[in-house]
Amino acid sequence: MVEGILVLDYGGQYCHLIARRIRELSVYSEIAPGDISKEEVLSAGFSVKGLILSGGPASVFKGGPTIDRRLLDGSIPVLGICYGHQLIAHVLGGKVSKGTKGEFGTCLVFLNRRMGVLKGLKEKERVWMSHRDLVVEIPKGFSVDAFSDSCPIAAFSNEKLKIYGIQWHPEVIHTENGMQILKNFVFNICKCSPEWKMEGFVEKAIDEVREIVGSGRAIVALSGGVDSSTAAMIAYKALKDRVIAVFVDHGLMRAGEAEEVRKFFEGKGLKVIYVDASSRFFNMLKGVKDPEEKRRLIGNEFVRVFEEVAKDIEAQFLIQGTIYPDRVESGRGLTARIKTHHNVAGLPEKMNLEVIEPLRDLYKDEVRIVARELGLPKEIIERQPFPGPGLAVRVLGEVTPERVELLRKTDKIVREEIEKEGLSSRIWQFFAVLLNDRSTGVKGDSREYGHIVAIRAVESVDAMTAKFSRLPYDLLERISTRITNEVAGVTRVVYDVTHKPPSTIEWE
Ligand code: XMP
Repeated sequence: MVEGILVLDYGGQYCHLIARRIRELSVYSEIAPGDISKEEVLSAGFSVKGLILSGGPASVFKGGPTIDRRLLDGSIPVLGICYGHQLIAHVLGGKVSKGTKGEFGTCLVFLNRRMGVLKGLKEKERVWMSHRDLVVEIPKGFSVDAFSDSCPIAAFSNEKLKIYGIQWHPEVIHTENGMQILKNFVFNICKCSPEWKMEGFVEKAIDEVREIVGSGRAIVALSGGVDSSTAAMIAYKALKDRVIAVFVDHGLMRAGEAEEVRKFFEGKGLKVIYVDASSRFFNMLKGVKDPEEKRRLIGNEFVRVFEEVAKDIEAQFLIQGTIYPDRVESGRGLTARIKTHHNVAGLPEKMNLEVIEPLRDLYKDEVRIVARELGLPKEIIERQPFPGPGLAVRVLGEVTPERVELLRKTDKIVREEIEKEGLSSRIWQFFAVLLNDRSTGVKGDSREYGHIVAIRAVESVDAMTAKFSRLPYDLLERISTRITNEVAGVTRVVYDVTHKPPSTIEWE
């Protein structure tokens, strides 16, 4: 029987990332609800060699989700992360309370006992934290293994029971030795062997699409990004001429986008229909300022356009390139909703198409591996992620054709300058945002009360966490000068220096 690690989901943003990191270690991993019983764990479809309790947005002392206490009896090794760490303390008789200030982002922890999951780490480690509650008393029989400036019990353990808790997130890329912690747990403590491989994903996905569509017909939503292009190629391989790709130009694309997509897909066998829907999207967005409302309306309208095309060609299925982070950030189950990704929770409740999402469990970098396997060109594989609602979520406040055009011009300058500097492959995303406020400037000796634009450039591996890019000042100066010279009405350019968390990558 396959052996592996079961991740218990307490609603954390990074829960799925934990399972994915374990798979990166060539060990099988699945996610189960946090309230799973011990009997269910023992009868899972694989041999569970260890449990990892995820983080989560709740408070243990305010009736947050809990664990079957029998899973903490020492029969299976357990690692609790963030909320999972607090839950172990709470259930086994320790104490958790509300911190006076939270810890969000990178911070230093001091390791006073480097054993168990902390074996091989340094005395001082740079880690990623995202919490307000904290453990203030450990359960009987446990030892305190690490602390930080504002968290006296940042890690604890009971070697006899093989139960470990850490307040920080080893699964996110910004915890420098996070993988070492997971390796210690998986290999040294749970004694797993690195034998599992993520192979045959493409064949599995093609089979799945073929089976669901049967003898029917489908459309695939194509934006030209790596996710939708990969989904489109999988759909084409599965269905050949029974699938048609639909590119909806909602008027919220970046400069040159529709042309680039056309160029990429010409002569590839897959038929692509281009729909110019810009005026209907702008009419619908008139007067709408709330970011979630924008996302919901755009998601709805996309589907209405797809339904119309599907009706024309008698298709019953809509294939989309939704990936895992889109789903987790849109909020399912216990996970707090961050923002509605237009292709997930943005879908209308009633729709006449059955949705198929072949990439639903993958992260962006995993999709890029699949895209490479499918032979997609480098330009698509390395393309910057671009949100489905397009520039609408980068125009804060009301979305009008004039404001979108102003942003489009600004964004083009940002892209050109960063590409000229040779930095584009190092930076995950770089773009401009138009703020919904004005600021005083002086141009040609007279006062101008103009627009404010922000530049956002972030480095990331999977979009779940990100760091702002330390762009050279000279480059920022060139960008700012070009924008204020070339884009009429802009009087101020600012640079966004916040990581994710606490910010998100997009401003809305
Ligand atoms: P945030 O802003 O949530 O973004 O940190 C994470 C990543 O997702 C992209 N994004 C979207 N992608 N539909 C998409 O397909 C959406 O509605 C959407 N919203 C954000 C964002 O550009 C970043 O790469």
